[in-house]
This record gives sequence, C-alpha cells and structure tokens, in this order.
Amino acid sequence: MSGPSIRLRRWRGDAPEALLELLRRAVAETARSCYDGDQIDAWLSTLPDPARWRKRLADAEVIVAYTDSQLAGFVALRAPGLVDLLFVDPGRARQGIGRALVARALVRARACGWRRLACDASLLARPLFEAAGFRVLRQQRVTRGQCRLTNFRMALELPPIRS
Ligand SMILES: CC(C)(COP(=O)(O)OP(=O)(O)OC[C@H]1O[C@@H](n2cnc3c(N)ncnc32)[C@H](O)[C@@H]1OP(=O)(O)O)[C@@H](O)C(=O)NCCC(=O)NCCS
Repeated sequence: MSGPSIRLRRWRGDAPEALLELLRRAVAETARSCYDGDQIDAWLSTLPDPARWRKRLADAEVIVAYTDSQLAGFVALRAPGLVDLLFVDPGRARQGIGRALVARALVRARACGWRRLACDASLLARPLFEAAGFRVLRQQRVTRGQCRLTNFRMALELPPIRS
C-alpha cells in the first residue's frame, strides 16, 4: 500500500504555535507508548512558553511536512550539526513522515557543509535514525521536571559532496 503524498518545505516563520501544539500532542499521545505517564507529564511540564518557543525556532532551520495541505510534522536543525526537534502529528504517525523529514534534514546538512549530524533520539525515534545511518554513541538519562527519561546521543558522519 502506498503512503500519503508528503510535501516538505522550509518553514517560513508562520504560526509557530501550530508547531508547538503538534509537538505537545506528539509527546502526549505518541511518546506515551515508550515512556510512562509520569515521564510524559514531566516532559509536557517543560515545554517552552510561546516567547521561548519562537526564539528557539528563530535560531534553527525548520523543515515542515504537509499531507493533504495539513501540517503533519517538522524537524529543526541547528548549526553546526544537530537535529534539535523531530515531531510528527499523532494522527499521521507511522506513515513515513518522520523518515522523509530526516532524509531532507540530511540533504540540508550536507548542503550547509556540515561534516557530522548528531541528535538526542527518543526511544521511538532511535530506529528511525538508525535506518538513516546514525549510530548510537551513548545512552543518556535526561532530566525532565521531576523525572528522568532515557534517550540516545546518536551521530552520523557526512562525507563532503564531491564537486
Ligand atoms: C519519532 C517520530 C517523529 C516518528 O515519526 P513517524 O512519521 O511516525 O515515523 P515513520 O513513519 O517515518 O517511521 C520510520 C521508522 O521509525 C520507527 N518507528 C516510528 N514510530 C514507531 C513506533 N511507534 N514504534 C516503533 N518504531 C517506530 C520504525 O522503525 C519506522 O519504520 P517502519 O514503519 O518501516 O517500521 C514520531 O513517532 C513522534 O513524533 N514521536 C513523539 C516525539 C518523539 O519521540 N520525537 C523524537 C524526538 S528525537
């Protein structure tokens, strides 16, 4: 069965609150399959307020994914080589949108001349990044509010593009 048609583009700075709301729902609904209720509540309690969120996005290169003209997910890249955010609408999970966003992130990272791309992958995102060639450097226990959550520092070396 073929998946949905996914349109990717650079985020233009419009409606940052829609991205934050998508993130909130992805944590509240999708991430619940891998983290317990206390950990999800703690994660949600540390989401930024709108002003901090706008600043975080302004400092990044954000790629948004649309299916059926609806925002379906986004990824944020931060120089000199970090995948800072990766979230997909829970109503559109497991349709290849995360994979498409990471593939585009790699293209952008190479175009920027970055030699290495790192990320802190959640339990859910780890297989996706592994499929894209990232390797686990270490398992981490990160503090979110009153809880500690497991994630993985991962990295991918990016050979320079031959001209
Ligand atoms: C992680 C996330 C971005 C994946 O987005 P997605 O569009 O559903 O992922 P894809 O459909 O492209 O899946 C790619 C691969 O990732 C893995 N994967 C994705 N969702 C998974 C799940 N719920 N359980 C197990 N593996 C999963 C699978 O290997 C999958 O390949 P497959 O479907 O061929 O088996 C999404 O689940 C999400 O927003 N999660 C909550 C927030 C989060 O953890 N963000 C990552 C922070 S680094």
